Amino acid sequence: MSQPDFDPKDFRRALSQFPTGVTVITTVDADGKPVGVTASSFNSVSMEPTLVLWSIDKGAHSLSAFEKAEHFAVNVLGSDQVATSNNFASRGEDKFANAAYSAGLGGAPLLDDYAAQFECKTWAVYEGGDHLILVGEVINYRYNDVIEPLVFARGHYAISAQHPETMKSPSSCDNANTDGGFVGDYLLYLVRNLYQELSASLYPKLQSECDINPEEWRILARMDSCPTISISDLTGMVLQPEIALRQTADWMAEKGLVEYQSKDILKVTAKGSGIAAQLRDLAIAEEAELLSKLPANEAGQLKANLKTLIEKLS
Ligand SMILES: Cc1cc2nc3c(=O)[nH]c(=O)nc-3n(C[C@H](O)[C@H](O)[C@H](O)COP(=O)(O)O)c2cc1C
Repeated sequence: MSQPDFDPKDFRRALSQFPTGVTVITTVDADGKPVGVTASSFNSVSMEPTLVLWSIDKGAHSLSAFEKAEHFAVNVLGSDQVATSNNFASRGEDKFANAAYSAGLGGAPLLDDYAAQFECKTWAVYEGGDHLILVGEVINYRYNDVIEPLVFARGHYAISAQHPETMKSPSSCDNANTDGGFVGDYLLYLVRNLYQELSASLYPKLQSECDINPEEWRILARMDSCPTISISDLTGMVLQPEIALRQTADWMAEKGLVEYQSKDILKVTAKGSGIAAQLRDLAIAEEAELLSKLPANEAGQLKANLKTLIEKLS
């Protein structure tokens, strides 16, 4: 059968439009040493029996440990566990050096912090091209309802938030159009709603006017004040894991927006900083248009108050 002639970068980008959670999947190797990898390929399969699956790259160091493991544990990460995700996505020798954990079923490490945890008995291992598909029968599970799960979408970390539409009062409700009830006056709702409205109008303009997607915009905006920067410093700033950031950076290098000074150092090009300036003007104009709906002194006051609140919180 002939292979479709896909550009791998483009195909990956298409797949990344599907958001997932982030897990750290653990087991022990033949010597009883803990092994763990960050994985977003986790999914539920069956209720009877209780089955889940994930897939591991055949190039992963921990492949043979998982292939032979009788048990594995799935640790679903919370939104404050970006550093844990990055740690287990590295090829470091001892990923467990800085991790707090205890041994679960079959010795598979259970992280102390998690949004959910599934202790599994390996049920089947299937071939899946350049990956192996591991199916596990869930023997134990637990979850933490108050922890927001970490999300991974379009190559960067995100948090899940209630969709603003779901917070609007129905028009049939008496109070809906006057004060919106409790939610209509709630700060979190107001801030989220404003964010949603602003980004929904700005991001399509970045694409149509400058052919830049939100990930490229975040990187260019950071490089505006730091024209030469290491990949690892940039990783923390734009909340992309290194593996995904390198893919975005390769893409941007192909478009002539950045160039590699070495394997680990990126420099913005003249074309990149020109587009960054254009994007900044676009964002400022968008913000000015929004704030022009308020009296001039109140617009300034709104921003000052938000800054003060943020400072006091951090
Ligand atoms: C958010 C995210 C999701 C990932 N998902 C998977 C996955 O589902 N399967 C996989 O094999 N690797 C995945 N990776 C890459 C592995 O975590 C990475 O290759 C790691 O170095 C493997 O560890 P090892 O080589 O020590 O086995 C993911 C990385 C990140 C940052």
